[in-house]
Amino acid sequence: MIGTYTLEISYIIASVTFIFGLKMLSHPETARKGNMVAAIGMGLAILFTILFHTRDGQPIHNIGFILVAMALGTAIGWTIAVKVKMTAMPQLVSFFNGMGGACAALISVMEFPHLAHGAETTSMFSGEVLDILLGMVIGSVSFAGSMVAFGKLAEKIGDLRVRSWRYVNILMLLVIIGLVVYIMQMGNIDPVRAMPAVTILVVLSLLYGVSFVMPIGGADMPVVISLLNSFTGVAAATGGFLYHNQVMLTGGILVGSAGTILTILMCKAMNRSLLNVIVGVFGGSSASAAQAVAGTVKEISLSDASVLLSYSQKVVIVPGYGLAVAQAQHICADLAKLLEEKGVEVKFAIHPVAGRMPGHMNVLLAEADVPYDKLVEMDDINPELPNTDVVVVIGANDVVNPAAEDDPGSPIYGMPIIKARTAKNIIVMKRGMGKGYAAIENYLFFDDKTRMLFGNAKDSLQKLVAEIKNL
Ligand code: TAP
Repeated sequence: MIGTYTLEISYIIASVTFIFGLKMLSHPETARKGNMVAAIGMGLAILFTILFHTRDGQPIHNIGFILVAMALGTAIGWTIAVKVKMTAMPQLVSFFNGMGGACAALISVMEFPHLAHGAETTSMFSGEVLDILLGMVIGSVSFAGSMVAFGKLAEKIGDLRVRSWRYVNILMLLVIIGLVVYIMQMGNIDPVRAMPAVTILVVLSLLYGVSFVMPIGGADMPVVISLLNSFTGVAAATGGFLYHNQVMLTGGILVGSAGTILTILMCKAMNRSLLNVIVGVFGGSSASAAQAVAGTVKEISLSDASVLLSYSQKVVIVPGYGLAVAQAQHICADLAKLLEEKGVEVKFAIHPVAGRMPGHMNVLLAEADVPYDKLVEMDDINPELPNTDVVVVIGANDVVNPAAEDDPGSPIYGMPIIKARTAKNIIVMKRGMGKGYAAIENYLFFDDKTRMLFGNAKDSLQKLVAEIKNL
């Protein structure tokens, strides 16, 4: 009895740590601590479950297996997380999210045959069966979808750009719903009789996960990643219902709701509707539909760039994925400080999907101790840009591409952008004329006011800082 109470209390403590941890994650200064707080809560819940959980009055069996599995999982997870490069973090997050989905699906697959022994009702038409089937479907979709997202982020899998694919997805979704209904109305609980339909359900859900993420690409991946994240949370919550386990339930619901909120915010940021995301095809039809680009590309020398920046009143830096690749955040922060010492007002313009994961630029710049109040959200910075002397685009591409506003044939058409082209001068720092994630040409680079400073962002920034110091 004391053990049961201790377990319940540990679950309440763990749930509270999740909530506080999540709250702390909302600010870069407290995020690291928040992660730790929630991890400690989870560790506590796992430890107390092993020590105090009982079933029919019996303690947990197979403790040896559990400990070996935990040691293996910890060693593999730890090694991958320590070794992964900062730029590969998004695909790692996607991979780990997929593992969460797989766990939730496996719980349902393992528990389904036990239904006959444990169910209070004798009919398949019960909340418990529905819960198990939902865990199976959502967990499988999340696993398979996250694996495809992982491949796409790692640039190992391309996009499937077939507009009519949405009908295949809708059909699959309908068959999945039909199968769930079919299994539930099978009468008395008989897992053996239901197994063929359940197997088809799992396979179809896995295929749907692949099919639903395959057509999504270009600038739309952030939305699908946060959606898959919320799926994993919901799938874990179904496990919580199944085992009457409050901590699994709280954890799952928190991940599910946080993921859903993020999805809605991402949809808003990308100007997309959630329905289109779920159906699976959205954005312009193909990059080839894009308009031809007019104008020529002009370069700027280091000395001209340093003079232009030093004698400006206001400079806005637009960081992008290339800044993360070059790991140039520290030298970028040095440039901002140096200009401020010269009396220039410097701000950073943050696009919600710059980089490869939500909040990527915020994390990167916080690492370089850029004060948080210098980071200005897209909607707030855009009205300031016409009065900005120089916008410096560092390793960003899609998030400043005017095609999103001008070209209905473009895959990024409709996505809100940082309106760099409205500034008085634009300097773009990148290695060459390489394209961004959406793989399309950027009109901004051909604009009359734009000048390119080619080179690796870190090298260019180092040279620029040295040049400005020598002025
Ligand atoms: P991108 O459009 O991906 O452009 C990055 C640019 O950086 C490239 O054009 C590349 O040009 C340049 N670059 C790469 N390495 C560099 C280096 N070492 N030094 C200097 N420049 C370098 O980046 P963005 O503007 O940040 O846009 C993000 C894109 O990713 C959006 O399309 C977004 O939808 C997508 N996405 C975002 C997320 C999230 S949640 N943020 C997730 C998945 C996908 P060069 O090769 O010429 O140097």
